[in-house]
Amino acid sequence: MDRVLSGMRPTGKLHIGHLYGAVANYVKLQEKYDSFFFIADLHALTTKYEHTEMIKQNRIEVMLDWLASGIDPEKSTLFIQSKVPEHTYLHLLLSMIVPIPWVERNTTVKDMIRDLKLKENASYGLLGYPILMTSDIIIYKANYVPVGKDQVHHLEIAREIVRRFNRFYGELFPEPKPLLTEYPSIPGVDGKKMSKSLDNDIKIADTEEATRKKIMRAITDPQKIRKNDPGHPEVCTVFKLHKIFSKEEIGQIEKDCRAGTLGCVACKKHLAENMNKTLKPIREKRKELAQKQKEIEEIFEEGSKKAKKVASETLKQTMEHMRID
Ligand code: TRP
Repeated sequence: MDRVLSGMRPTGKLHIGHLYGAVANYVKLQEKYDSFFFIADLHALTTKYEHTEMIKQNRIEVMLDWLASGIDPEKSTLFIQSKVPEHTYLHLLLSMIVPIPWVERNTTVKDMIRDLKLKENASYGLLGYPILMTSDIIIYKANYVPVGKDQVHHLEIAREIVRRFNRFYGELFPEPKPLLTEYPSIPGVDGKKMSKSLDNDIKIADTEEATRKKIMRAITDPQKIRKNDPGHPEVCTVFKLHKIFSKEEIGQIEKDCRAGTLGCVACKKHLAENMNKTLKPIREKRKELAQKQKEIEEIFEEGSKKAKKVASETLKQTMEHMRID
């Protein structure tokens, strides 16, 4: 059976962009693949090294969001990166064979440095981001890695590193391929890409009231000023969200908006209602799970032990191939 692996940095509670863009995909993949999903807490340190006080709590938030959304520990191996230190050993070994230009021209890291305004605070660890990511993947000999488009350059580097390793020391690792699923792209309430740092997101864990408030301030068609003005759904953020949460009614909503018989306030209320209805079972499950934090952490402890078995075997093979064991 092919193996799938993916990870997420623990940056806080997940939003519906994560849910529809990644987590729902994990839930599907776990049915067909030998699946490994992990919380990349060491990767969080590449940019958040001054603010480590949030990492443990954020790890728990991600665990709750994953389990509430249907990731099943009976089907998937769920673990925490830092609990499998073999990743970091392999990272070091790989770092010895990676030419400096490969990491220096990494566009994903360059984008992070620019977007987070890191400038001269960008660390040596951040430069090694794709090497650590490579080690996360190949230590499980994963065949497929479900990720977003922004991660593709990292995966190209991973494949280059694998080829270089296999050429120097003999075939050991398969080349991991990205699994780019056609995700619906979820806009935030301001129309930009949904993102925690832009403060335009709707969290899985938000209350119904908070969800409603956020939707009520969402931007719509700027040309639809009065309730009865005809609208242009194709430019409207609320309509884009309706497409995901109001599938059955979408034809009617579009028609009424264009005809000027549906005002934005009513339209938003309707969206908030449908969104809350869709998210209700996940939110209820999350609340339940939050009462059982010890058990949840235990699931990830157990998963980390399982992962560690695989990882330490691969690390041993790696050292044999490199003739240092
Ligand atoms: N870089 C990924 C992200 O920010 C997280 C990640 C770390 C990852 N290691 C990985 C994803 C290995 C897939 C495979 O989303």
